[in-house]
Amino acid sequence: MVGIGPKQPPSRKGSMTDVPKNLLQTIKDFEGQFTVDTKKLKEIVDHFVKELEKGLSVEGGNIPMNVTWVMGFPNGDEQGTFLALDMGGTNLRVCEISLTEEQGGFDITQSKYRIPEELKTGTAEELWEYIADCLQQFIEYHHGEENLAKLPLGFTFSYPATQEYIDHGVLQRWTKGFDIEGVEGEDVVPPLENILKQRGLPIKIAALINDTTGTLIASAYTDPLMRIGCIFGTGVNAAYMENVGSVPKIAHMNLPPDMPIAINCEYGAFDNEHVVLPLTKYDHIIDRDSPRPGQQAFEKMTAGLYLGEIFRLALVDLLDNRPGLIFEKQDTSKLRKPYLLDSSFPAAIEQDPYENLQDTEELFERVLNIKPTPAELELIRRLAELIGTRAARLSACGVAAICKKKNITSCHVGADGSVFTKYPHFKARGAQALREILDWAPNEKDKVTIQAAEDGSGVGAALIAALTLNRVKAGNLAGIRNMNDMKTLL
Ligand code: BGC
Repeated sequence: MVGIGPKQPPSRKGSMTDVPKNLLQTIKDFEGQFTVDTKKLKEIVDHFVKELEKGLSVEGGNIPMNVTWVMGFPNGDEQGTFLALDMGGTNLRVCEISLTEEQGGFDITQSKYRIPEELKTGTAEELWEYIADCLQQFIEYHHGEENLAKLPLGFTFSYPATQEYIDHGVLQRWTKGFDIEGVEGEDVVPPLENILKQRGLPIKIAALINDTTGTLIASAYTDPLMRIGCIFGTGVNAAYMENVGSVPKIAHMNLPPDMPIAINCEYGAFDNEHVVLPLTKYDHIIDRDSPRPGQQAFEKMTAGLYLGEIFRLALVDLLDNRPGLIFEKQDTSKLRKPYLLDSSFPAAIEQDPYENLQDTEELFERVLNIKPTPAELELIRRLAELIGTRAARLSACGVAAICKKKNITSCHVGADGSVFTKYPHFKARGAQALREILDWAPNEKDKVTIQAAEDGSGVGAALIAALTLNRVKAGNLAGIRNMNDMKTLL
């Protein structure tokens, strides 16, 4: 049948035979809620394409389509030594990257720090102090008393930011559960440069970038077929290269229409109006109880931050609304703690290789103090599969929409993020969804392939800093705040 898409059976054949009728019905209900068929995928992509266009228009829409002032791909000959500061959703990383003479080559030294939970809802001062501490520690260790005035910094700030210049970025809104007061609506570059100056580290930020833009550029450094950079991690998003002439919202700047410019889509905000996404009641609860209700609708259904919570909410729903159906006479208090389970929990369930789901049983006992029955284990496994499959299939919609918008029929997509690299079957499920959306013949080789990217937030940040300095040298000053300032780095 056309438009229905292949049925997705549970991964373990015959495993449902011993499941009682009422649990089987519950599994069917979950299948109904979480399955996104081909027809729906196509409907989502059609709407997505329109929303990408809208974001580039003067009026704008839900998807910010942020102009990044990254104007072109690297040619592989970029050189120099750069610092990169990567502020993601979970970790902070300080890197030093040397782009080497060998085409596409680099050396990297790095230190990783876990962002403390309390910092995510703390004050702006605490955030900048923490970042400065990490950077200072790294520099003292690797550079001692050296003069750093000529060491440019690429700051990977992976949140939506409006950039009038490449070394500027006003935070539009926090995402990924962050809620630090006094940063939204502000340029994040001066507070960081100021605190570094106060500590005797006169480091200049040459470029503020997004992790997706970094992924696009770092991947294109070694692969000329790269067209899109994606993150499927704590948050989700993509960047691609546009022509200035296709971005009406910067028409007033009178730049050459065929000049390339990278766009950071920020498509986690797709369908904030809830027009087309097939939201379940669990998605509505996640949104309602998040620090930013009404924002990041697409992200809340697909990103790593939420997959464990969707899973938990579905089980809690059964406890509350179908008394006696599951976990009878067990202490379920742990399961009631919001965000107790991160995406590694359903991932581990999907990874359980045993026919009797022994790993899943142990996981439930260890983390939740619950001992599921064999039939309950089947329900748990199927629920995890449904949530993981939905996330992968919806994730493919963003990639397909960019391809359709740009009339790209074949390309490579560079991808990074914990869900892409660690969640079982994510890649295969995403590839299957692309096949269905883009209508490739059954025996045709995939034309758009999503593959593991180079380190966008480190190497990508260094490359973008190098590209920026190279174009200042060449006299392309579009999106450069202060030419003299930049020239100090040359
Ligand atoms: C942020 C994006 C980022 C993505 C992946 C989203 O929450 O808004 O800027 O690219 O997460 O890290």
